[in-house]
Amino acid sequence: MTLDAPISQAAAIRAIDLSFGWLEDKAILQSCALEVPKGEFWMLLGANGSGKSTLLRLLAGLLQPTGGEVQISPPVGFVFQNPDHQLVMPTVGADVAFGLVREKLSTAEIRQRVEESLTAVSLAAFQRRPIYALSGGQKQRVAIAGAIARHCDVLLLDEPTALLDPDSQLELVAQVQTLVKKRGITALWVTHRLEELEYCDGAFLLESGRVVDRGDPDRLKRRLMQTEEVED
Ligand SMILES: Nc1ncnc2c1ncn2[C@@H]1O[C@H](COP(=O)(O)OP(=O)(O)OP(=O)(O)O)[C@@H](O)[C@H]1O
Ligand SMILES: [Mg+2]
Repeated sequence: MTLDAPISQAAAIRAIDLSFGWLEDKAILQSCALEVPKGEFWMLLGANGSGKSTLLRLLAGLLQPTGGEVQISPPVGFVFQNPDHQLVMPTVGADVAFGLVREKLSTAEIRQRVEESLTAVSLAAFQRRPIYALSGGQKQRVAIAGAIARHCDVLLLDEPTALLDPDSQLELVAQVQTLVKKRGITALWVTHRLEELEYCDGAFLLESGRVVDRGDPDRLKRRLMQTEEVED
């Protein structure tokens, strides 16, 4: 493990010695340790199958670890890798409002939150649009709007730019970065795309279920670019 800086005590997301496996002898995650300091925007990188989605699900409490512990500041917003697993209402506005039902807000407050969340992801004009009429990238933006409408303290996002073209991808990561900084949200963003690293405060690298590196995003980017060159 490479460390760039001492671990902050004021972490909003913390995994301690976290392990997970469906089968006893085949661990998907092994003794993972990670901490995201409060108010920071970190990314989680790793090859297909390295365990990124599993780790995010454990952090969100959607899976129970087979070893170790998660400490996280609620409320937690979660954006799934596949937006079709997340969007449940017939229209964009109704879907973003859906997550607010349990929060006992006035109709005016719900309207305002739906509007501000959709504006934050450039979909203000899409409130009445049926979900089935959206592109994959637009669905991912609606899923993000739904998560941020709940005014969460922590936001976990699983490859939210996977379905976006390169221009929309960088626009979205910049928008989310601005939003989380403005609201003091602590965020962990899973990605494969090295160009997104310039927007984060720090990054973790997963390899075969282990956190093998963490820290300065530029250094991680150089490390991964070198690996790609060697593989080419
Ligand atoms: N329900 C499951 N049952 C058995 N194995 C699983 C299950 N879910 C995930 N796995 C396995 O765990 C490993 C990690 O999967 P995970 O989805 O966390 O990877 P990932 O890093 O998110 O990959 P990707 O980049 O493709 O999204 C993979 O080998 C996967 O096949
Ligand atoms: Mg995944």
